[in-house]
Parts: sequence; structure tokens; C-alpha cells
Amino acid sequence: MALQRRLLFQARPIHLLTKHNSTQLRLRSLLLQRRWLSVTTTIQQRQKTSSSSSSDSSVITPRNGLLDPFFNDQQKVIPQYPRKTAEDVASLKMPPTRTRMLSRDFIDDCLYNPNYGYFSKQAVIFSPEMDFDFTELQDHLEFMNLLGKMYKDIEGEIDEVDEVARQVWHTPTELFKPWYGYAVAKYMVSEYKLNLYPHKDLIIYEMGAGNGTLMMNILDYIRKYEPSVYKRTQYNIIEISGKLAERQSESQDVRDVTEQHTCVKIINKSIFDWDIHVPDECFFLGMEVIDNFAHDVIRYDLETLQPYQALVSIDDKGDYSELYESVGSDALISRYLATRKQTRYRSPILSRQLWHKLLQLMPLGPNMTQPEFIPTKLFLFLETLKRHFPNHRLILSDFSELPDAVEGVDGPVVQTRYRGTMVPCSTYMVQPGWFDIFFPTNFELLREMYLLVCRGTRAGSDKSVKVLTHRDFCERYGDIERTTTRSGENPMLMYYENMKFLIT
Ligand SMILES: C[S@@+](CC[C@H](N)C(=O)[O-])C[C@H]1O[C@@H](n2cnc3c(N)ncnc32)[C@H](O)[C@@H]1O
Repeated sequence: MALQRRLLFQARPIHLLTKHNSTQLRLRSLLLQRRWLSVTTTIQQRQKTSSSSSSDSSVITPRNGLLDPFFNDQQKVIPQYPRKTAEDVASLKMPPTRTRMLSRDFIDDCLYNPNYGYFSKQAVIFSPEMDFDFTELQDHLEFMNLLGKMYKDIEGEIDEVDEVARQVWHTPTELFKPWYGYAVAKYMVSEYKLNLYPHKDLIIYEMGAGNGTLMMNILDYIRKYEPSVYKRTQYNIIEISGKLAERQSESQDVRDVTEQHTCVKIINKSIFDWDIHVPDECFFLGMEVIDNFAHDVIRYDLETLQPYQALVSIDDKGDYSELYESVGSDALISRYLATRKQTRYRSPILSRQLWHKLLQLMPLGPNMTQPEFIPTKLFLFLETLKRHFPNHRLILSDFSELPDAVEGVDGPVVQTRYRGTMVPCSTYMVQPGWFDIFFPTNFELLREMYLLVCRGTRAGSDKSVKVLTHRDFCERYGDIERTTTRSGENPMLMYYENMKFLIT
């Protein structure tokens, strides 16, 4: 069963969304804006026409086919606005206008801008108050029903208490606690004992720790089952969200002093701002964090197959246009593509040669291929690991596939929830802060990129860098008996079949 973590339920107090507007007015005004309308139409309707032009010659506008001119009735000149990065606009209180940004900077700003970004709207990660006793449940349906009830209660509570829109997520860490954390702990301890014990400490870094549940479960496991290892354990959290960092320390505070883990250090910063060298051998964890790492968009010229990188142009009204320029001016995109060239990966887009030839024969046919979303920030993360954590062992888990994604290779899911209904979009160019934008990860490609960046070796036979399915990992390290229901069904194995692990 494939699950998406996000927004299974979202509580949005209708009357209190902004200071000046009611939610209804706000949503209506959004619906009336072209940029919102565009998200409900197809990508062909959305993108700009062949007749659109830009006032500078270094960029081209994609033409998607014969029908473009009928959906875009005016010749539109796209002015040459100043180019900015997500960092340049981080201090703005409102999303930028009259600006151009690389698509990854645009997405980064939508998600992480400290003032209006999606994450600053105080995302809440669902955490059931009690751990489930799976052996007492009849089957996975009973588990689902129980979850549904708990969500409803949470929605109600949040409606009463909070003054802002809240997104409630659910993750395997939370749904299967403490068993999921125990499985990760069992894997780490067995590897640690094999390679480092008793000479070195067990040092763990977790980025993006959410409520702190995984940390608590991992440390509880080690204290209970491996007391001699526990004495030598250090646990560090790297968390971008101030609110969640606070929550992570509170998860300790509510416990009796004797139950608290004193080996924990919480560092409130983004992994992309990390600047401390950690020469120790350590485990580095990231569970459901990399899916929000911003991507760039590239398309290839149909005739020459040269890659072009996308820019989002935002006009004075806040409407978006997508433009393309030759790859080369952005060092990160160039590094990513050069490294990817050394792997066995070939973009599925480039294998459609016959189809591209046919398209070129069409009058007023498209001038570019379909888009490809490339994980440039994930690549930057690998470079960060290599530079600052040279002796790490990585444990990453995330979505390998996502339904209802934006068109293109590895396209994201872009969605929000309004009045109990999911609003999915067909573009990533949406009103910043209102939408979750999250990407699937090609774990097989990630493995090859990891080997090149962090191990300096070509892809292939290195057996110590593995991709496992969620099920494989849980079967190997999880407590199957304690997570099986009376009917014999095991929700921890059945759910999240669209998730994978990279372990190194
Ligand atoms: C979907 S939650 C997952 C939380 C937890 N790992 C779990 O599985 O329940 C994503 C977490 O990553 C954090 N995060 C996102 N981007 C980050 C970054 N660049 N650096 C550090 N933390 C980040 C978020 O604040 C949040 O805590």
C-alpha cells in the first residue's frame, strides 16, 4: 500500500487565516489569479506560448505544440527582471515580484522562506499519544480506523487552539513507534558492534528530527537492550525549524528525569548551513527529509538535445512564466550533470529519439523536450556530507515514487488541502507558502551519485552501499512479531511500499 505522508488531514481554522481576510475571501482571490487557475489546467495550457517573447536574447520560452497559441491570446513580452536566489529574498515579508529565480531557488523560497514559506506555517507532524499494540488489533483496517479517529480529534483540537493554517503530516516513524525507531537502532548497533565497539563511541547525527520521536525510540532501545553501548552514545539533531527543535527538547522534558536522555544535543540550523568539521566515525540519519530538497528543472532542445535550465520569472502582479537558458551559468547544476554523466543513468527523455524526430516534423510543434526535475540540493547535501562528515555512515529513507505528480521525470507532488479536500496541482509555480512541494527520489541513481561524491569511486560493485525497500529493511531489522495483527497482517510491512532506504 503506497502512502503519502502529507496532509492526510489538515486543520485550517476558517475564520482566522490572515489578519485582514477571511479564508474564504483569500481562497477566492487566489482562485481568481491566473497563477492559481494555471495549476488546475494542463501543463500545455499553463506554459507560455511560442509567441511569448523575452526582452533578452539569452533565454528561450518553451513552445509545447500546435495548440499553444489558442490558449494564450496575447503576445507577452517577459521583461528582464533582476536575478535573485532564495537567500537574496529570505528577509522579504511577502513573496518577491519583478524577479527571476532558478527553479530550485523558487521552490526553496516557497518551502523555507522564514516569513511566508510553507515550513514557517508551523507544520505539525502527527504523533499518536499512545503506541499501538498491534498484537491486540484485528487487522490493518482496524489500525486505519483508529488512525482516522485520532486525526479527527487532532483536527478538532487544532481548530480550537491555533490561529494559523496547520498542516498535519504522518510518517512511518510516528505511525509505527517505537518499532520503527527500534529497527533503525538495531541496525546501527549491530553495525557499530561489528566495526567500532569497544574502541569508539556510538555517534549519531539526525537531520530533520520532526517531533524527536525517532531519537527517543532509538535511545530507549539502546538503553534497554544495549546498556554498555548506551554509556558511549552521543545523539545530535540538526533541525531547520525552530518550533520543531523546541518540540524535540520538550519530548524529553515531559519525561521523568530518570527517563531523560542526557546524551542529546539539538542544533537549530539547516543542513545546508552546516560548517563544523566532524572527523568522527558516525551514523547520519535522514528520514523523510530529502523529499523537500529543492530541485532544478531542465529541458533539452529538441533538435540539438542541449540541456537548458529553467528560470521562473515573476511579474509585477505575481504571475509566473517559465524561461529557459543554456546550462553553464550555475555551478551546482553543471556539477550535478557532470557527475551524473559518469553514472550508468540515462535520462528516459533522451531515449525518445524517434518521438523527438516526429515532433520536429510537426508544424508549430514543441521546441523542447519534457521537463526533468534534477535533485540539485540533494547533490549539495552529498557534497556537505563528504566535506564535513568524511567518516559517516548514511541512513536515508524517503519516497521512491509518488502518485499524482507534476508531469516530467521525477516531477514533484504539489498539493494543499482546503476544507477537507486535497487540491493537487500540475505545476510547481504556485503561491509560495500555501503548498507542500515534495519529490520522489531515484534511489538507484542516488546510490551511484553517492559513490562518486562520497567515496570517489565509480558506481557498481561496492556492496557496502545498498538500496533496500521499506519492507526489506523492516523485515531485516524490525520486530515482526510485535507489529503483526491478530489476522496475521503486518501494517509496518504493508504500508509505505513506495519508500526506500539508502544505507552505506
Ligand atoms: C516530514 S518531517 C520528518 C520528520 C521525522 N524525520 C519523521 O520521520 O517523523 C521533515 C523534517 O525535516 C526538517 N528539515 C527540512 N529541511 C531541513 C534542512 N534543510 N535541514 C534540517 N532539517 C530540515 C523539517 O523541519 C522536519 O523536522
